[in-house]
Amino acid sequence: MRSLQLLGVLSLLLVAQESLAFKAHDFKTCSQSGFCRRGRALSARAKEAKSSWKSPYSVDPGSITVASDRATFTAGVKSSLYPDIKFGLELRVHDDGVVRVRMDEVGGIRKRYDEAAGWALIAEPTVSKDIKWTSGKKNIRAVYGEKKENEIVVVFEPLKISLLRNGKEQVVLNGQGLLHMEHFRTKTPEVTHTEEPAAQEGEEVIANSETQVVIKAENPRAWFEGDTEDDWWEETFSSWTDSKPKGPESLSLDISFPNHGTIYGIPQHATRLALPTTTGESPVFSDPYRLYNADVFEYLASSPVSIYGSIPVLHAHSVDSTVGIFDAVASETWIDVGRASEKSTETHWISESGILDLFLMPGPTPEDIFRQYSKLTGTPVLPAHWSLGYHQCRWNYVSSDDVRTVQKRFDQDDIPVDVFWLDIEYSEDHKYMIWDEKTFPDPVEMVNDVAALGRKMVVIVDPHLKRTSNYPVYQEASERGLLVKTKSANDEYEGWCWSGSSSWIDFFNPAAWEWWKGVFKTQKSAKGWSWTQSTEAVHIWNDMNEPSVFNGPEITMPKDNIHHGGWEHRDVHNINGMLFSNLTHQAVAARSDTPKRPFVLTRAFYAGSQRFGAMWTGDNLGTWEHMAVNVKMVLSINIAGMSYAGSDVGGFFGNPEPDMLVRWYQVGAFAPFFRAHAHIDTKRREPFLYDQPYKGMMRDMLRLRYSMLPVWYTAFRETTVTGVPVLRPHYVMFPKDPRGFDIDDQYYVGASGLLVKPITAKDVTETTVYLAEDQVYYDYFNHFAYRGATKGKDITVPAALHQIPLFIRGGSIVPTRERPRRSSTSMKNDPFTLRVALGKAGYARGDLYLDDGETYSHQKGQFVWREFIAEKPMKKGKTIRISSKDLGSAKPNEAVDGVTLKTFNPANEFAKSIGDVRVEKIIVLGITTKPTAVRIEGGEDLIWDYTPGVACSDKKEGIASVLTIKDPKVLITKDWAITIQW
Ligand SMILES: *[C@@H]1O[C@H](CO)[C@@H](O)[C@H](O)[C@H]1NC(C)=O
Repeated sequence: MRSLQLLGVLSLLLVAQESLAFKAHDFKTCSQSGFCRRGRALSARAKEAKSSWKSPYSVDPGSITVASDRATFTAGVKSSLYPDIKFGLELRVHDDGVVRVRMDEVGGIRKRYDEAAGWALIAEPTVSKDIKWTSGKKNIRAVYGEKKENEIVVVFEPLKISLLRNGKEQVVLNGQGLLHMEHFRTKTPEVTHTEEPAAQEGEEVIANSETQVVIKAENPRAWFEGDTEDDWWEETFSSWTDSKPKGPESLSLDISFPNHGTIYGIPQHATRLALPTTTGESPVFSDPYRLYNADVFEYLASSPVSIYGSIPVLHAHSVDSTVGIFDAVASETWIDVGRASEKSTETHWISESGILDLFLMPGPTPEDIFRQYSKLTGTPVLPAHWSLGYHQCRWNYVSSDDVRTVQKRFDQDDIPVDVFWLDIEYSEDHKYMIWDEKTFPDPVEMVNDVAALGRKMVVIVDPHLKRTSNYPVYQEASERGLLVKTKSANDEYEGWCWSGSSSWIDFFNPAAWEWWKGVFKTQKSAKGWSWTQSTEAVHIWNDMNEPSVFNGPEITMPKDNIHHGGWEHRDVHNINGMLFSNLTHQAVAARSDTPKRPFVLTRAFYAGSQRFGAMWTGDNLGTWEHMAVNVKMVLSINIAGMSYAGSDVGGFFGNPEPDMLVRWYQVGAFAPFFRAHAHIDTKRREPFLYDQPYKGMMRDMLRLRYSMLPVWYTAFRETTVTGVPVLRPHYVMFPKDPRGFDIDDQYYVGASGLLVKPITAKDVTETTVYLAEDQVYYDYFNHFAYRGATKGKDITVPAALHQIPLFIRGGSIVPTRERPRRSSTSMKNDPFTLRVALGKAGYARGDLYLDDGETYSHQKGQFVWREFIAEKPMKKGKTIRISSKDLGSAKPNEAVDGVTLKTFNPANEFAKSIGDVRVEKIIVLGITTKPTAVRIEGGEDLIWDYTPGVACSDKKEGIASVLTIKDPKVLITKDWAITIQW
């Protein structure tokens, strides 16, 4: 977070922050970024030249070698413009059909950064055993897949790589001839460096100047590379100069999806889930999407500018198939998106440095893409159960007594909350982990007072360290040489951030890893300073890790700063924040003897960050536009692998009216990560401060969230195994329904069957919801049965301020815990309610996953995993049978956190510890007529009541019939069956 007030204090900066608005001039547009301008100019020249355009890159057929594993081939690549420069191309087919394409300069005067994938991947992928490359005169190809449906073809001249499925092109690389790997060169003084007028569009550069003509004559490469050394050797932006000691080294590549009209992914951008265009006839955005982790103050609600995190993953989707790519690049990257036709998409990727290291994921379904991508970068970590509750934050709770009072107020009003947060002002002079003794004289007692009621605290620890002799964390990092260096590679880099003059830990240095873990120990250590004024109930918030540097170019580090191994900051920028949350996650886990699952929130992220905790959408505004776009952004983050996501409830900036705040709690209650947060200049806005009816509405939403914790936790278990996200947009659920491709304001929660559409506009009383299938959908609250249709149907539903449109898809069984409690920890032994929403065929199923929520004992088989089924038994007669059975032993190859359990024991210690927990109510929606008896199978009659209504199999809409079975006394951990008879 950045504040006007505090920036005023740091008067040295004075980056004109006078008005509350996005500071466009703080950040580069493509035309202000040398390599992006060059990349776009290349594409403009290609468009101009049309069919006469030909990529100068080609494979030397004589250089092809197929490795003994048969799945890998390598070849030399040349550019006709630079016959002396050599490139090496390598293609590998993995055992799941993913194709990895790598290209690097060979024997160049420098080495390109090639470690991005090394950070992102969880393991070196295994190559396929069933691949055979066949080499011809003009190309080399491999046909593979279960039905030989996939084919990868590399055409030699010009170089073109295509992935096909059933003969249809899925992904094409360099089909438009925009591949260009700028090789390393030495500066030749005789070539005139033309002064670039500021803010040129690429197009103008080529259209422009007499110099063009002059240089062209002596420069045959100009048709391809342009005729000027445009920002090759030095680059200025505003008052900063990037020394660019390595010269030009950017990488341009066109990636087309000739049979896919919709693309998703490449978060983080504030825009729709289905990405709008940036090129073509009438592009929605004029600049490409940018991936360059940045602390963007008051970001716009609709824009391709980069914000805090970057995941270079893209899905291309059509009714036929979904394919994906993961571009393992860590440097600043711009991506143009254009539509060649309604059913075809062209993208152009321009990166500042690094090798080409691209993964083509063949799909063909969204689930396959999630599986293929998680096999590369890992699945999300299973969060601690308490962290799925409600988090109360603001900048700042100003003292330990303030924290105690806020906790008391929540309890007085019976409003559930699990976590209290402290922003930067807890620390003395923003020396993180050093408590300000004036305001927090008794931090351990304060944390214990919170923990005594089963709650936790999250405290902020940023990556900038105040450069002062009385800050042991800085002193130790400095003495051990663990800080990022300036371009000279000798001096500690110094920049300005919250703590004034600061330096940054270099987590690319392995020596920093063990040291950082030591810092978080709550006991005194002989090895160095440790945070003894902390307890295991304290978890961590990593903010500002883009990194944010108030007086740096684009509010971040200079690109010529040097990290461990001699790499420039330019090469590693987008991974930098992930390493910080990675190591913080490890440090928090390493505090306890029985390791407990850490909670770490990060603002910056990269592919792989899903393994370390949660993210949020940063400093949003308290506006309806931001509320709406934040819902879409959280969906986009989910499909890019990071399910544990949310946005600041209430909006970080501004003072939302009570009705807006109520809506924001509805948004938050249906986001995986649910935290309210507010800027230091805002009025306090904890739910207990409001009058009725608003307070009651917020409390209801919080209680709804808590009642659904079993649903969220079960969905998280699934994503830890399959990578299928917790939030599922329409194209994921119904990949063949084109009407759903653009839908990004309603979504499903896991496999629970819950469909939700948060309202993100003022004064709404009703809304339309799209039902993509011929199925019954029950209103969660009043049990109204709506009917979808095979071709999709819009229904109109009530959505007044106290209402959130929430439906159970027919065919689902939803487990909840409905006793209002003050925190999730007090729900451990609460009974369950099951909502059985019969589908149109009279069937329903659901599952429930439980474990201790805190330790890693689930990886050793300490969990409960049940399946509930409602069906008509085989034998004749009118009966519905609802049963519960163990799933853990039924699915020996599935578990959690990627740990496979071959020998699961349903009667494990954890199951025993909740052995008394029962089902207290079963609500069956949509049975046809009033039953004659409801009983435990082979046992006693149960107490029930029945309200007649619409049946699941009816064609008509209306309030569904409701059978309520009261206290059936069946146990959650045991097998049981209940029959409903006529
Ligand atoms: C996480 O940190 C460990 C070092 O403790 C490192 O080996 C690993 O590659 C890191 N992973 C990511 C994705 O940053």
